[in-house]
Amino acid sequence: MAAAMAAVRWVLLAAAAMAAVLALDNGLARTPPMGWLHWERFLCGTDCGSDPHRCVSERLFVEMADVMAAEGWRDAGYEFICIDDCWMAPTRDEHGRLQADPKRFPSGIRKLADYVHSKGLKLGIYSDVGNKTCAGFPGSYNHYDLDAQTFASWGVDLLKFDGCNSDTLELLAEGYRRMSLALNRTGRSIVYSCEWPFYLRPVKQPNYTEIKQYCNHWRNFFDVYDSWSSIKSILDWTALHQDSIVKIAGPGGWNDPDMLVIGNFGLSWDQAVTQMAMWAIMAAPLFMSNDLRHISPEAKWLLQNKEVIAINQDPLGKQGYQITKDKNFELWERPLSGQAYAVAVLNQQEIGGPRNFTFPLTLLGNGLACNPACSVWQVLPASRDCGVYSWVSSLSVEVNPTGTVLLKVMAV
Ligand code: GLA
Repeated sequence: MAAAMAAVRWVLLAAAAMAAVLALDNGLARTPPMGWLHWERFLCGTDCGSDPHRCVSERLFVEMADVMAAEGWRDAGYEFICIDDCWMAPTRDEHGRLQADPKRFPSGIRKLADYVHSKGLKLGIYSDVGNKTCAGFPGSYNHYDLDAQTFASWGVDLLKFDGCNSDTLELLAEGYRRMSLALNRTGRSIVYSCEWPFYLRPVKQPNYTEIKQYCNHWRNFFDVYDSWSSIKSILDWTALHQDSIVKIAGPGGWNDPDMLVIGNFGLSWDQAVTQMAMWAIMAAPLFMSNDLRHISPEAKWLLQNKEVIAINQDPLGKQGYQITKDKNFELWERPLSGQAYAVAVLNQQEIGGPRNFTFPLTLLGNGLACNPACSVWQVLPASRDCGVYSWVSSLSVEVNPTGTVLLKVMAV
């Protein structure tokens, strides 16, 4: 008997040790990273002569860093200011190192990182696992160690590593692994943002257990656009694949549904609320891509909303999932620390006006979220106390077309 118990204990200890190595062990991204990334809003603007305020240049990042520090973004938790594609000169330098375009980044990335750090922010940069980036600039293939060392020597804090232009799937996987190890070897803390599963998926089911050992977050699906159809397609894809992707997310490794486009041109108010609410439910990295120098007070209120950010950043680190879909309503929940739940009701009907959705509270938390009773607090579209409910009662919410009501449910 004692021997059997000891054997069981050994198996449990071995299982715990294996679980401990499952996430990339760099101590970073214990909650989903937050920041700003230039791509969706500023794309590959390289013509600073005719578009000096919007081209991809050090000026853009300096101005954005100033606003992030001065206007409450940093204090709300948006920590990284990230450069995407198109920052490079078309060729490497005489030592084979990547170099910034000298016209658009005359001070160089090291100086930019110093400036960003002086504002209490962190700097992200971009490269690609293949021969060229998606926009055709030099890629990191065959240069993983050198590029990791270069980024570390510049003081970079995050690397977005894209997956264009790899010759084979084996090279793609090997490149993602090698860059992760190369970043670790630099000794600098550098968050590693991957697109590995997105480039793999058309041909092969990604091995998320492995991906999580190498990456802090990873894109699964197409680039976000500034439109409702794009947000909707990301949510639909996530719900469809939730059985394979939700369980893998947690402190150190997150599914990345791509940038927040709130504050741009394509989303209505209700759709912006939906993106913010659902990115919190999905435990998504929150990288805004917008122009923080010109943003409406409403978008700023939503993006800096403390209650929704607290849900996104919940320390339990569990990703939410869809519970049910009924009459074009979707009901989602995310388990939070303290036995609480975030609950989202999304109205997918794109005709008519606000509609009521009534659901029994036993649907939440496998029947345990509201047991024996719970208090319900509405977070979005506006903060509101909804009162206390008993286990056997139903909750009714009114939701605008393409909008979402986000609630926090706490057992009492
Ligand atoms: C890919 C990525 C985008 C962006 C562009 C840059 O499409 O998915 O997020 O980085 O490349 O070229």
